[in-house]
Amino acid sequence: MTRWATAKTRVLVLFGGRSSEHEVSCLSARSVLAALDREQYVVTCVGITRDGRWTLVDGVADTGNGTLPSVPDDGDTVTLVRTRKGPWLVRFRDDFTGEQVGPVDVCFPVLHGPYGEDGTVQGLLASHGVAYVGADVASSAIGIDKRQMKHVFSARGLPQMPYLAVRRAQWEHDQRAVLDEITGTLPFPLFTKPARQGSSIGICRATDADELTAGIEAAYAYDRVAIVEEGLEGIRELECGVIGNAEVQVTRPGETVHTGSFYDYEAKYLAPVQLRCPAEVPEAIASRCMEYARDAFLAIGARGMGRVDFFYVEATGEVFVNEINTIPGLTPASMFPPVWAAEGLEWPTLVDRLLELALDAVSRDGRYAP
Ligand SMILES: Nc1ncnc2c1ncn2[C@@H]1O[C@H](COP(=O)(O)OP(=O)(O)O)[C@@H](O)[C@H]1O
Ligand SMILES: [Mg+2]
Repeated sequence: MTRWATAKTRVLVLFGGRSSEHEVSCLSARSVLAALDREQYVVTCVGITRDGRWTLVDGVADTGNGTLPSVPDDGDTVTLVRTRKGPWLVRFRDDFTGEQVGPVDVCFPVLHGPYGEDGTVQGLLASHGVAYVGADVASSAIGIDKRQMKHVFSARGLPQMPYLAVRRAQWEHDQRAVLDEITGTLPFPLFTKPARQGSSIGICRATDADELTAGIEAAYAYDRVAIVEEGLEGIRELECGVIGNAEVQVTRPGETVHTGSFYDYEAKYLAPVQLRCPAEVPEAIASRCMEYARDAFLAIGARGMGRVDFFYVEATGEVFVNEINTIPGLTPASMFPPVWAAEGLEWPTLVDRLLELALDAVSRDGRYAP
């Protein structure tokens, strides 16, 4: 990064946020903050409260009682403004008196789920001319929305589990017809999911029509579109890391090994999950995952980083693409850092690389689109 050789890069780390993955985001941000070398970067932390207020914080505080961290609501409000000197952070008190915090060169949005990983924050950053880590507005919006993501993946010919998308309005209009269509098309067990969520929140497994009905209704607590997907039994879950802009690099798959009935929120963040990096799978399976990961990343037009997840059915040798995450979990229990470490790219170097990719993306693409 010769451009910044004489001055430190000013990094804004954004975390918390309005989604149900608020706490996970705080844990991910703690990992990012720990990796940033203060000799190289001036780091500003902005925590987004659950109701969407940007506040100035020192970092991610430890709760001290074993509960997950969250963004406290007592800090000064901050906002990003575009000044004549470039993008700037400004803080102000409740009476609207305030002062500058400082300029921003690049933002690392460490936000998972809606209002963070879905293109909304990316749009705000792009419109203020701030470089940011990860996928652009459109790719983020596609990546978070399982219905749109599946459309794009099928256009690319990627193998996926059969599914139906059910709009809430359709369900409320004629539940019977929707149930008939689902049960006439897809065999049980079925997985019901909100179209735009993450961390297994709002996801249920259904083995009969009653569970299916309950599952669809549970999904509507999070989104107006529910995905109903054919369920696989006895699968292995493999995940590949992807980084890059014009040229992408893909890791060998890692495997998440868990004991619950499916990989749920609690198993992911509260109970220990075993990660195997790289996964012990035949070479042909590893390369198929890597090829699909690259295709999936490019298909949605992602840049910066992503993690592509697979279902591997060992008995038949089949691999299905489950999803892409454009801001993968970066907590100590997450897959993204260790799959890269297994390739020889250690976490602090990976964080440097992601910031470099963000700066590179604006310098190349800033003149085109967000
Ligand atoms: N079709 C399926 N067959 C079997 N297990 C599934 C299926 N879909 C989801 N799961 C289980 O549920 C977990 C969460 O589903 P996923 O679609 O990845 O949602 P999220 O975006 O919340 O991570 C998966 O990691 C897997 O354990
Ligand atoms: Mg998932």
